[in-house]
Amino acid sequence: MFPLDCVCSQRTDQDQETTISDFHPLDHDDPLEGLTLVGANQHKARADIAGDVRKGLSDDPKWLPCLYFYDEAGSQLFEKICELPEYYPTRTERAILEKNADELVAHVDHHVDLVELGSGSATKTRLVVEALLRRHGKLRFIPIDISRSILEESSRALVEDYDDLEVFAVAGEYHDGLDYLKERGGPPRMILWLGSNVGNFSRPDAIHFLRRLHDSMRDVDRLLIGIDLRKDPAVLVAAYDDAEQITAAFNKNLLTRINRDLGGHFDLDAFTHEARWNEENGRVEMHLVSQRVQTVRIDGIDMAVDLAMSESIHTENSYKYSQAEIEALAAAANFDVECQWFDAQNRFSVNLWRPIS
Ligand code: TRP
Repeated sequence: MFPLDCVCSQRTDQDQETTISDFHPLDHDDPLEGLTLVGANQHKARADIAGDVRKGLSDDPKWLPCLYFYDEAGSQLFEKICELPEYYPTRTERAILEKNADELVAHVDHHVDLVELGSGSATKTRLVVEALLRRHGKLRFIPIDISRSILEESSRALVEDYDDLEVFAVAGEYHDGLDYLKERGGPPRMILWLGSNVGNFSRPDAIHFLRRLHDSMRDVDRLLIGIDLRKDPAVLVAAYDDAEQITAAFNKNLLTRINRDLGGHFDLDAFTHEARWNEENGRVEMHLVSQRVQTVRIDGIDMAVDLAMSESIHTENSYKYSQAEIEALAAAANFDVECQWFDAQNRFSVNLWRPIS
C-alpha cells in the first residue's frame, strides 16, 4: 500500500530555507505500512540552547526561551496538563470539534490532505480525521511536531487504528515542516493549528508567523485554528496554576533541562511557579520565582546567574483574544474568517480561515 521511508535533514546553516534535498535517511527500528516518517533534525542545529539561555538569563528582567519546554519529559507533562480539571482549553476545544466536525469538514468540498502543526498526541485531531474519513473514504494526514518520540508514537497509533489513513509524519519545527510541504506540492490542504498555540506568540510574532503560513498556502488550502478567548482572570490563572502542581513541574522542567544539557546547578526547590494575568497585554504570564538570594552556576556556558529574593525568570506567555482581536489578527495576516465555532460558555473558538491572495 504505502511505502515506508525515513529521511531527516542534516542542515546546519541557520537562515537558509529548508528544501526537500536537505532531507536524508534516518534510522528506524520498526517499519509500519502506511507510515512515513521524515525528520527535520535541523531544529537541533538551529535551536542554540546555550546562546538562548545565556541571552535570557543575562537580560533584565530575566527570561528563558519556551522552545525548550517540549523535550520528552516536557511533552509528557503537557499531555497531563491537557487532562487537568482546571485546564479548560483542551476539553473545550475537543467539545467544539466533537459537535461540529462534520459541518466543519463540509466547508472544504474537495478531497484534502490534513496537515497539523504541533500535533502532540493528536487526540483532538482524531475527530477531524474521522469526519474526513466519513466524507471522503480515505485520507492522508501530515503531522508536524518538534517532539519526534510523541510524533512517532501517535502516528503509529493512528495508522493502526484507521485502515484508510496514510500518515506522513514530519519531525521538526513548524517552519521547516512548512517549507518542506510548500516545495512538495500535492492536493489541497486543511491545516490544523489547535490548542491556541498561536497564544504562545507575542501579538506581532503571531501576525508574522501567520503571514508566513499564509505564504506557504494556496487559494484552495484552509487553516483551522483554535484560539482561546479573553475571560474571567480567575479562570485563566487557575488553568495555568493547577492544584496538582503539574503545570509547576512543566515550568520547572526548563531548569531540569538546563541542568542536564548545559551543566546547570539549579535547585528546583528554590523556585516557585507563578501564573500572572497581565490585563494590559491580555496574557497569562508564566514565571519561576526565586525563593532566596542565590547564585546559580551553569558550567557548560561558564555562567553564574545572580538572583535576588523574589526575582522572577519569565518563561512563557499565553495570549488571549477577543472577537475583535481575532478578526484583526486574521486581517493583518491576510486571511478571511470564513466560519467560527464556539462553546456554549464562550470560552474558546475554532476558526476556519481562507487565505486572501
Ligand atoms: N499552548 C498552551 C497554552 O498556552 C501551552 C501551555 C499550557 C503552557 N500550560 C502552560 C506553557 C504552562 C507554559 C506553562 O495554553
